[in-house]
Amino acid sequence: MKGGYDHFMQKEIHEQPESLLQTMRGRVKFDRSPAKLGVDPYQERRVTLGGLTEHVSTIRFGRRIMLVACGTSYYACLACRQTIEELTDLPVTLELASDLMDRRCPIFRDDMCVFVSQSGETADTIQALEYAKERGALCIGITNTVGSAIARSTHCGVHINAGCEIGVASTKAYTSQMVTLTMVALALSEDSIAKRARRDEIIDSLGQLPEKVREVLLLDTEMRSLAQQLMKEESLLVFGRGYNFATALEAALKVKEVALMHSEGILAGEMKHGPLALVDENMPILVIATQDRMHAKMLSVVSQLRARNARLIIVCNKGDTGIADLVSERCRLIEVPQVVDCLQPVVNIVPLQLLSYHLTVLRGMNVDQPRNLAKSVTVT
Ligand code: UD1
Ligand code: M6R
Repeated sequence: MKGGYDHFMQKEIHEQPESLLQTMRGRVKFDRSPAKLGVDPYQERRVTLGGLTEHVSTIRFGRRIMLVACGTSYYACLACRQTIEELTDLPVTLELASDLMDRRCPIFRDDMCVFVSQSGETADTIQALEYAKERGALCIGITNTVGSAIARSTHCGVHINAGCEIGVASTKAYTSQMVTLTMVALALSEDSIAKRARRDEIIDSLGQLPEKVREVLLLDTEMRSLAQQLMKEESLLVFGRGYNFATALEAALKVKEVALMHSEGILAGEMKHGPLALVDENMPILVIATQDRMHAKMLSVVSQLRARNARLIIVCNKGDTGIADLVSERCRLIEVPQVVDCLQPVVNIVPLQLLSYHLTVLRGMNVDQPRNLAKSVTVT
């Protein structure tokens, strides 16, 4: 059942090139044919989501898009919020399902509520779905489990088709959720001429994604050696911003829930507003500094942490000379291939999933069944 792997989590991490392909199969049309005379070379690029086709125009004319989820599924929403905002020009709000219910958040008939859940059975998310339905909102599901409660109760939706996920720590569902949310943004913006160049850039990058993930999985041995270096630590801080704030939160959640090590994901823009007090020469700090619009700001974060003699681990793109100029012997680089900015979180999380996996094994913890946790949280 584990296909030669020691644990389901490990198997599911390594399955990602294939699960991402399955998520896109039959849905993304990549135009790889050479430009024909008189034919627009871009016209064939397209995303078709069978479960949303009839609802695309309703969603486009909605008042706002509200993304609702728990845990890792919420971080997938956080990672893709900017892409949906950018491509649809609609306001996109994010809600943790339990908090939405605690606040009894206002929801209106012209709201488009998207419920993201791997299992489709999470009680908090189901409650929020029932609440939104009572208020007349269009309810859209993004689930991995055909026939699940959320798939059945939503008006329409998209199955992420990542394949069965058994390890309690969500890994391949997270990357497939991000790709699905990106496909939703692409499907909703198909008629926009102004967004065409950006859409084409993202679709081309989706086509390369499985190969880039295969490439980043080759860091497995390096992540094991990093885990050996970190296994006795009590805490790990993870800094990110922009698209990769979600990566920081998700990496910290993985380290917490399976390796049972304290870890905190921090928005790098908030560093000076408190977290900097924790920085000394002993605390390990992971910084996500891949090349996007936040890069210059992340280089400045690295410089400020270096000035405090911090122990740094930096996730950066291969060949990034800006980072190379800054590093010292106390700094370890995790070099990842570059993809389009909004899909970089899909690549960046993979070595951090491997790191949390190896930390768990080395610390002697239960990988697939962490204490006190269940795969589906069916009580609120
Ligand atoms: C569907 C078929 C797929 C087939 C393809 C061929 C299913 C489950 N999927 O995929 O096997 O190869 O057509 O065209 O039979 N839905 C919700 N809520 C959710 C998720 C989905 O209501 O949370 C609904 C959708 O609106 C849709 C249906 O479930 O009506 C299937 O969704 P999805 O599997 O994503 O559709 P296709 O990709 O078209
Ligand atoms: O099945 P769901 O996506 O609704 O589950 C939500 C969370 O319970 C889940 O992501 C949880 O945080 C995982 N254990 C994270 O790895």
